[in-house]
Amino acid sequence: MRLHMLRAGTTAAEGTEDTASTAGTAGAGLPLVLLHGFPLDHRMWLAAAEQVAGGRTVLAVDLPGAGPGADPVLPQPPSIEAAADAVADALADAGVSRAVVAGLSMGGYVALALLDRHPGRVAGLGLVDTKSTADAPEARANRLRIADEAERGATVDPVRPMATTLVGETTRASRPQVAEQVAAWIDEQSPAAVAWAQRAMAARPDRTAVLAGWAGPVTVVVGDEDTVTPLDAARHMAQAAPQAQLVVVPRAGHLSALEQPDVVGLALAELCQRAESA
Ligand code: MLT
Repeated sequence: MRLHMLRAGTTAAEGTEDTASTAGTAGAGLPLVLLHGFPLDHRMWLAAAEQVAGGRTVLAVDLPGAGPGADPVLPQPPSIEAAADAVADALADAGVSRAVVAGLSMGGYVALALLDRHPGRVAGLGLVDTKSTADAPEARANRLRIADEAERGATVDPVRPMATTLVGETTRASRPQVAEQVAAWIDEQSPAAVAWAQRAMAARPDRTAVLAGWAGPVTVVVGDEDTVTPLDAARHMAQAAPQAQLVVVPRAGHLSALEQPDVVGLALAELCQRAESA
């Protein structure tokens, strides 16, 4: 599990994108930790992290196997819980005892598992274009089929169409380079990691009760053109969590943080402020 420092806090000692070892003592206020969606890596958060003001330390992980040059040894069996435990270990190694944690889609599943298994590490929760429910049986079967295809063919081809389906229709029409960037990132993922993530997501439980049982600050963010985890899924989470705010991002699809990074970055900065004053 790699932890990248995207922004060093203003009071930090020297920080680089790949060195998060001083994160626990760096920055104004609570660190913000970003968990990426599938089949991508931490780079999908770079633009939104730029928008998080206030001298805050911003960290982003590469979930197991994600990103070019990732460790090919993956925890077995594949599980979102293993990913959450790896995030907790990486934060502990970086000296981060508590943070605001935000995850987009698969990153949101991991964030909820982190809250479930390591609640003391979570000071605030950002759930971006994600859902708290488990997959329906057909969706689960489809994931397992894609995992088998990716593994058997040693190819990311089965998930390549996601470069267009993840992006909203406005972005697709007005900024085709965004979908091209997503396609390039997908092409850099390892087929084994794609298979691992699909199997992990297929096995995840419904964590709505975890959300309902947590009194900390939650921000639910959804692109108004998200067809993968649409507005209804966001409303479901916002209604379940006792301290939730819902932010609907105009002209954004499932990758709202990439499509409208200023809006999502601001929503996460406000979440950090709520967590600090809680
Ligand atoms: C993601 O963006 O992480 C995926 O769409 C998640 C999923 O397939 O459920």
